[in-house]
Amino acid sequence: FVNHMVDEDAPIDSLIQAPHQVCRGGLPEPPLMFAPERRAAVGWDLSEPDVRAMMEGHAAARPDHPRPPTSAPADVNHAVDAAAAAAGSWDRLGGERRAEILENASDLVESAAPDLMAGLVHEAGKTIPDALAELRETVDFLRYYAVQARKHFGGDMVLPGPAGESNRLRLKGRGVFAAISPWNFPLAIFVGQVAAALAAGNAVVAKAAPQTPRIAARAVDLLHQAGVPRGVLHLVTGGVEIGQALTQHPGLTGVSFTGSTATAQAINRRLAARSGPIIPLIAETGGINALIADSSALPEQLVDDIIVSAFRSAGQRCSSARILFVQNEAAKTVERLLAGAAAELRLGSPWHLSTDIGPVIDAAARDRLQAHADWIGHRAARLFECPIPDGLAELTMFGPRAFRLENADLLGAEVFGPILHVVHFARSHLGSVLDWINASGYGLTLGIHSRIDSFWQQVAENVRVGNIYVNRGQIGAVVGVQPFGGEGLSGTGPKAGGPHTLFRYATETTTSINL
Ligand code: SER
Repeated sequence: FVNHMVDEDAPIDSLIQAPHQVCRGGLPEPPLMFAPERRAAVGWDLSEPDVRAMMEGHAAARPDHPRPPTSAPADVNHAVDAAAAAAGSWDRLGGERRAEILENASDLVESAAPDLMAGLVHEAGKTIPDALAELRETVDFLRYYAVQARKHFGGDMVLPGPAGESNRLRLKGRGVFAAISPWNFPLAIFVGQVAAALAAGNAVVAKAAPQTPRIAARAVDLLHQAGVPRGVLHLVTGGVEIGQALTQHPGLTGVSFTGSTATAQAINRRLAARSGPIIPLIAETGGINALIADSSALPEQLVDDIIVSAFRSAGQRCSSARILFVQNEAAKTVERLLAGAAAELRLGSPWHLSTDIGPVIDAAARDRLQAHADWIGHRAARLFECPIPDGLAELTMFGPRAFRLENADLLGAEVFGPILHVVHFARSHLGSVLDWINASGYGLTLGIHSRIDSFWQQVAENVRVGNIYVNRGQIGAVVGVQPFGGEGLSGTGPKAGGPHTLFRYATETTTSINL
């Protein structure tokens, strides 16, 4: 039973298709991913040692790589004012030209792949496969929103009306969007939020997470090189103080935020307290994501999917599975296989391609996870814990682990890391499992494993979440394939990487002419 997420000996090329099954149902037009001919063009037909050497070369240079200076509130004011001055001409440029610029940016991102991946490994502790998947998602966002800009921002929509009257509807940028992004996808989500706002005709002030400013600075640099005017896209860095200055600025006309529920709620309150225009908040936050497995689920497949969904990326995805509800009859087998599979996970330095689980983002995150593990360890049975191998003291490692809870109520908030909570349920009590999930208030991802159609359909129809995955893993949403985002405490929507995303970044004007 081998569950390694990556085959150590696989050529790097094969990994490009590995993390998702994107080709299963055909790709959205135009092809978004690294098509084979593009891969060759950007030097991706390489063996794993070549890539690792190349990336380590970049990493070696990193200690001297300048960190962008932390912004002051005055920098934020200056950035919003400058963005407001530039927004009109960017909007008037039109969807076609903006799409070309975003496509230029995606080419530049592909060309800078080794450097960007090195940045992701170095600054965010990403494993190499995760860095590659993130790079690809970044390219996907740029290309996908370019397609959407062309489609919806290329000219007026003609509407019906009485004879002698012309009615038209035009989508326009709102003005200046703040794009506030998290450290866990410092390239893909950062660029995704920025690209959506730009595609819809807005100027942007992007705030990078304090843990990952370098990768954000590199991304902004590439977008400028691609043709986004400097006045249209600004980067600010820093913590809460900078976020506050940004969201309080009267020149702002929209906020796009990805991060914790508590911060989204704080931003929401701040926006509500402003005088002047009422502006939208697009928020993507966290979840207490459940995975429900009945006794018909295929145990090996289920266990593979749990391992990936709960532990890949050290559980630091908002989509990660946090709580497994497993039917009584299957519970023992699943727990036994799960412990065996977890024992096979390779914890280590993210610089090794064979590593399944790298470090968590920083010592504060590790301490929070440890505090939760200690707390729950006194109230629940520990099923397993992956030990940290020797020699990793300089990394903020946290071993994946699972606890069996008698009562799901012990888990009241999102735990952002590789801790899985397991609860057994009787088939006759499925309703209370669904009630518990809905009552949590979160609604992001839901995994269902069952070979009985009526079971998964009943679950899917009665749980309010944004992304449902049946008999597969529940992380790694693909742009244009699984538009991503939740509801309730998990966010306001709209989904990232979906056909409706750009509308929420835009305003609409109708013009009626009496001919
Ligand atoms: N979109 C990511 C995923 O699906 C989470 O941010 O895993």
